[in-house]
Amino acid sequence: MTHHRSAWRNRWTFMLATAGSAIGLGNIWKLPYMIGVNGGSAFVLVFIASIFFVGIPLMMTEILLGRRAQKNPLDGIESLALEAKASRHWRYLGGMGMLTGLLILSFYSVIGGWVLSFISTAANGNFVGISGEQSTENFNQLLASPFTLLFWHTVFMVMTMGVVARGVNSGLEKANNILIPALFAILLILLGYSMSVGDMQSAYQFMFSPDFSKITPVAVLSALGHAFFSLSLGMGAVMVYGSYLQRDVSIARASIYIALADTMLGLVIGLAIYALVFANQLTPNAGPGLIFQTLPIAFGQMPGGTLIATLFFILVAFAAWTSAISLVEPTIAWVVENTDISRKTATTTLGLIIWVLGISVVLSFNEWQNVKIVFGLNIFETLDKLTSTILLPLGGLLIAIFAGYFMKQDHVQEELNLPHRSFKIWMCMNNIIAPIGIGAVFLYLLNIIQ
Ligand code: TRP
Repeated sequence: MTHHRSAWRNRWTFMLATAGSAIGLGNIWKLPYMIGVNGGSAFVLVFIASIFFVGIPLMMTEILLGRRAQKNPLDGIESLALEAKASRHWRYLGGMGMLTGLLILSFYSVIGGWVLSFISTAANGNFVGISGEQSTENFNQLLASPFTLLFWHTVFMVMTMGVVARGVNSGLEKANNILIPALFAILLILLGYSMSVGDMQSAYQFMFSPDFSKITPVAVLSALGHAFFSLSLGMGAVMVYGSYLQRDVSIARASIYIALADTMLGLVIGLAIYALVFANQLTPNAGPGLIFQTLPIAFGQMPGGTLIATLFFILVAFAAWTSAISLVEPTIAWVVENTDISRKTATTTLGLIIWVLGISVVLSFNEWQNVKIVFGLNIFETLDKLTSTILLPLGGLLIAIFAGYFMKQDHVQEELNLPHRSFKIWMCMNNIIAPIGIGAVFLYLLNIIQ
C-alpha cells in the first residue's frame, strides 16, 4: 500500500516543530522542580552533561533514522533493519516507543490541564497581591477537585488530538511558527522581573555552584532521564518528525540548535523561579506544584501582572500543546500508513484510550492519592518514573546500538553528511559514550532496587 507522505514545507518549519516538541512542560514545569527535589547544582551539572554527551548525538541519530526510512518508527526501523541485514525484530523498538508516548501523554495532558486552568485563574485577577501561603492553598484546592482536573484534562486532550487529526501541514506547522518565539519573549520579561525583585544570587548558587557531594545515583538517573524527556528523545517522536524532513538539511546543525534552545530555556526559567523561591522563603523541593505555587506570587506583585500572567500561562499551554502532539504522531503515522483507517478515526480512538488512562492520573492527585503501584509511588509518579527513567533511556540505548552497530556506516554518513572528523566524534558519542553512560546508570539502578 502506498500512501502519500507529507513533508515539512521547509527546514525552518522542521526546526520549529522539533523545537516545539522539545520545548514544553519538561522545561517549564518539570525541570525546575526536579532541580529542587534532586538537590540543585549536582543535578543541573549531570543534566547539562547528559544533554551534550548523550542528548545531542542521539537527537542526530533519531533524525537520521527517520529521514532515511521515510516511514513511521515501527516500519521505519524494520526497513532499516532489513537494509542492514539485521533482524526485523528491531521493529519492536518502534512499538515500545509508541507505547511510551501514550503513557507519557496520559499524565502530560493532566498537567497541561493545570496550565489551562491557571489561564483562567490568572485572567480573573486572582493572583493580585497573593501571599506564598495563599498561592499554595489555591494550588492544593485545584488538586483536590477531581472534576475540575478532569475537565481541563479533557480540554487538553481535545486540543491535542484536534491538531493531530488535521495532519502535518495544516495542524502541526502553523501552531509552532508564532508561539515558540513568543514564549521566549515572555520568559525574558519574567527573568527580568525575577532579577529585579528576586534573590538571583542564591538562585545562581543553588543551580550552578557545583557540589559533587550531592550527586546521588538517583539524581544521576533522574538527570539523564530528564535529558531524554526534555529533548523528546527515546520514543520515536523526533524520528517521525525527521521522516517528514527533506534531504538538504544538516542534521547536526539542527540538533545542536534545538538542544541549545531547549536547554537554555529550561535553565533560564529555573533561575527565574529559584530567585522567587528564595526571595519568598518558599521551599525548593515542593515537587510537581513548584511553578504553580511560586509564579503566581511574582505575577501578583508585578505591575500589569494579571495580563503578563495570563499571557504566560497561555504560552505555556501552547508549548505543552506542540509537545503533546509529537507524543502521538508516531502511533498515528503507523496506523495511517498501514491500514485504511482514516487519520481522524485513528486519532479519536487513540485519544479516548489516553484520556481514560489520564483519569487515573487525575485521581492519583486526590481520591487515589494513597494508591501505591510500586516502590511507594502513586499512579502519576509510577507513570512518570517508568517512562522518564526507564523506557526513554532504554529506547535511546537501543536506538544508539542499532544505528552504531547494525547499520552500515556509509548509510549513516550519507544522512549525516559530516566532515570526516565530526563523523568520528558523532560515532564515538553514539557508539561508546552514550551506551556506556546509559548502561552504567541502569546497572546502578538495578543495584538500588535489589
Ligand atoms: N519534550 C517535551 C517537554 O519537554 C515532552 C515530550 C514531547 C516528549 N514529545 C516527547 C518527551 C517524546 C519524551 C519523548 O515537555
